[in-house]
Amino acid sequence: MSSTRQFKELKHLDHTHLWHPFTQHRDWFEEDPLIIERANEFELIDVDGRSYLDGISSLWCNVHGHSVPELLEVLHDQVDSLCHATLLGSSHRPAIELAKALRGVVPEGLTRVFYSDSGSAAVEASIRMVLEWWQKKGTAAASKKHRLLSLENAYHGDTLGSVGLGYLEAFHHSLRSNIVPSMRIPPPHLFRFVDGLSESAACEKSLKIAQGVLEKDGDTIAGFIIEPLVQGAAGIWTHPAQYLRELIQLCRKHEVLVIADEVATGFGKTGTLFAIEQAEVSPDILVMGKGLSAGYLPISAAIATEEIFQGFLGEPEELRTFFFGQTFSGNPLAARVSTKNLEMLSDQKILGQVNASAEELKRLLDEHISGLLHVDEIRRCGLMVAIELTEHPGKRCAYAANQRVGAKIAMAARERGVLIRPLGNCIILMPALTMDSTRLEKLVTTSAESIRDITES
Ligand SMILES: Cc1ncc(COP(=O)(O)O)c(C=O)c1O
Repeated sequence: MSSTRQFKELKHLDHTHLWHPFTQHRDWFEEDPLIIERANEFELIDVDGRSYLDGISSLWCNVHGHSVPELLEVLHDQVDSLCHATLLGSSHRPAIELAKALRGVVPEGLTRVFYSDSGSAAVEASIRMVLEWWQKKGTAAASKKHRLLSLENAYHGDTLGSVGLGYLEAFHHSLRSNIVPSMRIPPPHLFRFVDGLSESAACEKSLKIAQGVLEKDGDTIAGFIIEPLVQGAAGIWTHPAQYLRELIQLCRKHEVLVIADEVATGFGKTGTLFAIEQAEVSPDILVMGKGLSAGYLPISAAIATEEIFQGFLGEPEELRTFFFGQTFSGNPLAARVSTKNLEMLSDQKILGQVNASAEELKRLLDEHISGLLHVDEIRRCGLMVAIELTEHPGKRCAYAANQRVGAKIAMAARERGVLIRPLGNCIILMPALTMDSTRLEKLVTTSAESIRDITES
């Protein structure tokens, strides 16, 4: 690929000094790295000036495109006044104003904004709130509630607590003795995928199992966490709003607190600001990250009910304080750009456009990708798309991991100027909310050509 001097130097330094996340470095060392220098609108530009369409909104977080002038303007302004001050023992205007703005867009019962600096840290905060809240109640019945419940194939982040919620033997066995895996219930897609049940039959079966688990063990379960409507990292597996609604009702019946993890689904990707709006449900804690700052800076939040917050009030000697936080929790730069993001999203035109773009995306996927020989299924919710591949057309048969088919497809797309990412046996597309139809077409047609190149050659 590139042979310029600056590229060679940076590649050498990268290969010598960096350890990349979720990356097998044996493979990384084999390839020329993509070294991004700047970004504009929906394109990322490498050190040699080549431009790439950002087809995954920079790992699902970019909302309005890159280097958007309104967002940069507030950042520049904030840089001049305050880059960082801690929320431990002091406060600042950007954190206060963002909390007020968030209160205006989340369900009414969610009143207390607790900031962190990543999705994983906010999930960690939420499970700590839930577990500690029950213990701090001090009754015999409440102290029995010490377990967490999640869906199979869940992903809630990479801190040890959040890994417990999505524990997978294949990935995490070497941590087996350090992690407390949560209890799991199967989401409907497992019955659709494995047993070929219809959506309604699969939902009924999943809910029945959930009911059985809650009836048997509800008195020991403190909280249930769910990615509402879409299990993103599992491969964009969706469930209907009705399933989410009924599951939450079951949790309420058995006094199990509900955490909605909207780190991936939040900020418009499913067509509404938060996915829970489509089910008209209100959790006890709402977790958000990624798109909160429009994908510009690291910030996340766990927003809890007043009842949970009150459980942590007390005299110093009672030790009811929530002993949790990070140095950069609620950083002023990140908070300021987040408030501007919310202001931009309050313009209903943007969310309205998501639904039009999602329809356009569906049309393009139907036209260019669904008929490809090695495409088994396309799953989609709003702008979140997974293209499931199959080695044997007509049968559901994942490629073996060592064939690296997804990685090769992503590389073929990159060579054509489009960035997409493999996830297991899927290719994920997730454009920013406001990507125009010309670029959406480029994203889909380039993905189609790249899939055909690698799977049919
Ligand atoms: C649903 C969900 N929760 C939590 C996380 C973790 O977020 P972060 O990578 O910011 O720690 C992710 C990341 O993809 C996610 O999809």
